[in-house]
Amino acid sequence: MLEREGKYKSVSFRKLVNEIPSTTHATFGLYRYPAKFIPQVISFILKNYARPKMKVFDPFAGYGTVGVVARIYDCDYELWDLNPLLEVLHAVATLKPKNIGVISLLHQIECYKEEFIPRWSNLYYWYPEDFLPFLFKVWGFYHSLEDEYIKHILVIPLLKVTRYFSYDDIQRQKLSKSPKSEQRIKSLLKSDWKTVFFQMLRKEITLVLERIHEYQKYSPKDVNSIVKGGVDTLSEDLREEKDILITSPPYLQSHEYIRQAKMDLFWLGFSEDYINRLSKLEIPYRNVPPQPIYSQTYLQWRSRIKEHRLLKIFDNYFWGVLGALTRLQKKMSSYMFLFVGRASIRGSPVPIDQIFAEHFSSLGWIHETTLMDTIVARRLFSYKINPATGIRDNRTPTENLVILKKL
Ligand SMILES: C[S@@+](CC[C@H](N)C(=O)[O-])C[C@H]1O[C@@H](n2cnc3c(N)ncnc32)[C@H](O)[C@@H]1O
Repeated sequence: MLEREGKYKSVSFRKLVNEIPSTTHATFGLYRYPAKFIPQVISFILKNYARPKMKVFDPFAGYGTVGVVARIYDCDYELWDLNPLLEVLHAVATLKPKNIGVISLLHQIECYKEEFIPRWSNLYYWYPEDFLPFLFKVWGFYHSLEDEYIKHILVIPLLKVTRYFSYDDIQRQKLSKSPKSEQRIKSLLKSDWKTVFFQMLRKEITLVLERIHEYQKYSPKDVNSIVKGGVDTLSEDLREEKDILITSPPYLQSHEYIRQAKMDLFWLGFSEDYINRLSKLEIPYRNVPPQPIYSQTYLQWRSRIKEHRLLKIFDNYFWGVLGALTRLQKKMSSYMFLFVGRASIRGSPVPIDQIFAEHFSSLGWIHETTLMDTIVARRLFSYKINPATGIRDNRTPTENLVILKKL
């Protein structure tokens, strides 16, 4: 229907924004956050729809890409995410360069004796006993630091290397052991693993320092920003009006973001109880009270789903995401940009973008256009097995940017 109205246009954000040479350039990709925005999408939006000093808002901010790019365009921003990692990662991604003595820092870590022990009942399942006393001291050093700058420089390298020293299969999207990861640990145990640890750490610190320098080439500005991790977007209130909302909401067959992040969250000092509470708030794996969804396409799709479990995910997804965005849109003064893929249910792709467009059109927004990015190599929306349904997925490889203008 909308296709005939000429609302859909194929684009390549990477080609449209060629001043960003790659998705991992500068600090856009310091940490492998699942389903991260490619920075070119945000850059395209801000270049074409924003002016300096405008206020940009992302209520499902993940890694915080919207904020990292907003600084380049001199826009103020507010970011929320359920995942507390947002605050840590975003602080690193927006650091200014400073000289630090890497060798002396590594030496201090090596000599440190106080321990930090994560409050995690499964700790010994995820790490071989040999490594733990050593890791406790390394993290003891991190938690003893008073210099916030050094802490920020150190945190992503430490998280990465600490994960490498665990049984987690790093290639997989969720925390899981595999024969491959067990083999990695076996080989590490046979090696001079402390030396390996410090070599990796040094390489990762150097990389962070280089990437922070690269980010400066984009001339990021000192803007006003609010960054809140551990926030449930379904119940949080926005205190002030914003100009533009840009977001990529959790997916219909979403990652379990907290489950993926929890190893890192434990080392950062969060408690098991708190992490479990956050897990229970993730969309679409939670029960949400029914919300009005003003879309014929939604109703048609809903009537076709016969399986109770799938229907529950379907409803919780739309009630959760659209319920939250319907409440928040009242505080947006000019545009909303919603970036989604088309997840399949029982083999057919659900036109999520179309459901969003219909819903907000009936709330008075003008559906300007939907830009479909057909690039193939991506991490966003690229799972073979749908984690929500356990079914193999044939999704069309497009990411759709729904552009909505306030009437
Ligand atoms: C597609 S990701 C966003 C990625 C982000 N655009 C980026 O560039 O990294 C969706 C995010 O929604 C978050 N999320 C899931 N349920 C949430 C909730 N109830 N409240 C706030 N955030 C939630 C997840 O933690 C995840 O980071």
